[in-house]
Amino acid sequence: KNVAIIMGGYSSEYQISLTSGGVVYQYLDKIKYNPFKIHIFKEKWVYVNESNEEFPINKDDFSIDLNGKKITFDVVFNAIHGTPGEDGLMQAYFELLGIPQTSCDYYQAALTFNKRDLLSVLKPYGIKTATSFYLNLGDEIDSDKIIETVGLPCFVKPNKSGSSFGISKVKTKNELLPAIENAYKEDNEIIIESFLNGVEVSVGVINFKGKITVLPITEIVSENDFFDYEAKYLGKSQEITPARISEELKLKVETVSKRAYEVLKMKGFSRSEFIIVNNEPYMLEMNTIPGMTTESILPQQAKAAGISLTELFDNAIELALA
Ligand code: DAL
Ligand code: MG
Repeated sequence: KNVAIIMGGYSSEYQISLTSGGVVYQYLDKIKYNPFKIHIFKEKWVYVNESNEEFPINKDDFSIDLNGKKITFDVVFNAIHGTPGEDGLMQAYFELLGIPQTSCDYYQAALTFNKRDLLSVLKPYGIKTATSFYLNLGDEIDSDKIIETVGLPCFVKPNKSGSSFGISKVKTKNELLPAIENAYKEDNEIIIESFLNGVEVSVGVINFKGKITVLPITEIVSENDFFDYEAKYLGKSQEITPARISEELKLKVETVSKRAYEVLKMKGFSRSEFIIVNNEPYMLEMNTIPGMTTESILPQQAKAAGISLTELFDNAIELALA
């Protein structure tokens, strides 16, 4: 089967996506599948071969022309973090074309990529979240009102982004406006959340062979102020799998994560982030195209569960084709 591994994307996360896509390409079972690296950039959608030659994608049917021979794809492995791969755009495009793909459907992607909307949908199901304040580009910024709502310190985040781009921890009122300006570089919507002082955990939930499966939980100990870009990708954090939490708490976190997956009718991969305060998990977000780089958490969790990357990727493709 021809597998299009799509990577790149239009956001600040494109470089991480290229690495994730490279890992997928490297570990994909080459006997079973015939993988193609496809770069999706604003300027060009291209197939890139082993010699780095580029062949344009025909967007009418997502095909390529290789020396006069038309190649079409049986399935798409989506490794694009951020827009347009994690926010539903590519999902909708492939659904219209009738090409199966490994990520969740367009609606779930759009919903989960929007932190405010995701958390407000999950809240009525008993999933706890931080107190938050929402801003749209152009909105009047009333620092006193924001701080009155969320307190200090607080986190200023782009509402739709990943890999901690544009996120700041704000400790004083003076830092608030610059943090908001910084977040607006990534997105025209901002979410400002109260600081949750607790243990951060990351929980991978996947459909493994038809069964919703919670992977071993990872505890994140950041050397930096929070789990920022440097902590995520430049080694400034310790990721401990399985997390050093009690059996009871582990069960609670697993139950909440699984509930979120089920409530949203998710498919494929997901990795949710929580902060545990007083034995209660508070959800920060859910990633539907989790990083697959060697530093990334979900591959570490799969390994801890005894699932090899080849098996993990094969499972995703099998499910997409089912
Ligand atoms: N957004 C990054 C890639 C992650 O969730 O792993
Ligand atoms: Mg994220």
